[in-house]
Amino acid sequence: MIKACIFDLDGVIVDTAHYHFLAWKRLANELGIDLTIEDNERLKGVSRLDSLEIILNLRGISLPTEEKERLANKKNSWFVDYVLRMSPDEIFPGVKQLIHELKKQNIKIGLASSSKNAKTVIHLLQIENEFDAIVDGTMIRYSKPDPEIFILAASKLGVEPQHCLVFEDAEAGVEAALAAGMKCVGIGSANQLGKADIVISKTGEFNIATLQQLSTV
Ligand code: BG6
Ligand code: MG
Repeated sequence: MIKACIFDLDGVIVDTAHYHFLAWKRLANELGIDLTIEDNERLKGVSRLDSLEIILNLRGISLPTEEKERLANKKNSWFVDYVLRMSPDEIFPGVKQLIHELKKQNIKIGLASSSKNAKTVIHLLQIENEFDAIVDGTMIRYSKPDPEIFILAASKLGVEPQHCLVFEDAEAGVEAALAAGMKCVGIGSANQLGKADIVISKTGEFNIATLQQLSTV
């Protein structure tokens, strides 16, 4: 039985995944690296420094830690510039309604985002009060595909992992949810997210009537 739904943020609740891509692409271009949409799929759900490492590895570049931190900060300042211009109307259609319907069925709502900017984003979107528990990139040691973030979210919600359903747009996130022993709805393409229990193209399309069909326990 599903007792909690745990949402990723970037690419699930709002299109900040696109802002991450634009900022990484700009940084990659400055380094003489072409970052394609396909390359970008591997950055989704992954921490800031791990994402930079993946980009540098595209060209076999290795840099000292201080230089990597400088570059990651530069990318983040561009990302934050996009974020600070956001407004609540950028929340994907149907997401708030879905959260409200889930709450009506006594389902707890969690947020599990690898981003250290997650609290700023949900504040600007005016949805911070929608969540019973929030875990962001400042609270974890290992980012997705490690299950740590979802295990922590479930424990904060007081719900056992097998009763949690995760909404994820990243391959690393789907892997993390499954490794945590949770069910997972992939948001995006079945090619990328085929390991998820179901894949839908948009979060707002989730049919609440299928909720308990996803549950085996
Ligand atoms: C995840 C994004 O939510 O957060 C990744 O999918 C991003 O693309 C990661 O790298 C870390 O974000 P931030 O804001 O801490 O750099
Ligand atoms: Mg995401």
